Amino acid sequence: MAYADTLPPRRKFGQTTRPDAWWVQPLFVFLGFSAFIVYSTWAAFHPLYHGACAYWYGGLHGENGGADYLSPFYSPEFWGTSPHALFGVAPSWWPAFLPAFSPAFLILWIPGGFRFTCYYYRGAYYKAFWADPINCAVGEPRKTFLGERSFPLIIQNVHRYFLYLALVFVVLLSYDAFLGMWFTDALGKKHFGIGVGTIIMVLNAVFIGLYTCGCHSLRHLVGGFLDSKTKAPSCAKTYNCVTCLNTRHMLWAWISLFWVGFTDVYIRLCATGVIHDFVFFKF
Ligand code: FES
Repeated sequence: MAYADTLPPRRKFGQTTRPDAWWVQPLFVFLGFSAFIVYSTWAAFHPLYHGACAYWYGGLHGENGGADYLSPFYSPEFWGTSPHALFGVAPSWWPAFLPAFSPAFLILWIPGGFRFTCYYYRGAYYKAFWADPINCAVGEPRKTFLGERSFPLIIQNVHRYFLYLALVFVVLLSYDAFLGMWFTDALGKKHFGIGVGTIIMVLNAVFIGLYTCGCHSLRHLVGGFLDSKTKAPSCAKTYNCVTCLNTRHMLWAWISLFWVGFTDVYIRLCATGVIHDFVFFKF
């Protein structure tokens, strides 16, 4: 008897014997990702508000001077209108036929690419957006699945290279959080302090760090590179730490995704004068 003859008949799309609400998880993933993609795209295209910088809050903002808050969507800022800009306002080589330059255009492809190729996110959005399959043991709409060993999904293997860049971003965002502890007075002097925005920025760096350091590719990297576990004690300890974070990878993926968007919203609301940053203390 041929092997194919022993297989159960193929299910139609959505057909299942599962008694639970299997569609709830893909639905929430779809809504969560869609909301983030729409908001982050809007934020990337809107660096200004009435001609003023909307992604940075600081300097003499507010009654007593503001802290130095830079939106994570815009960090590091190569060109831009905040004092963080490394090379001036806008690059002279930016093609005129493209939309007006925004500093986020040069940045967002890195964290975006890192998340898009993440092993957890892949599993989640294959189900939620492509229904491939829409959930375990539920009939799918396609008859063939080429998998991640064929084009185009083989490109997902670039994840390990995005990891190297993402680790640099953890350092940059931590530095931004440190800068968020410094408040400028009317004379331009800096004072150490803690505001609500400082705490939001510190948590942003922590959550993104916990998500990045639980990466499957990082496990492989610190575990000895090869397909067998390292014997070096220091690598084995690091491997265990990464594994520990990896067991909660989904949780950190969602918390860090929500929080990075929230951090941008908070700084944008402060910068545009909609809310005032509450300062707990400053010296
Ligand atoms: S597997 Fe999720 S960040 Fe690498």
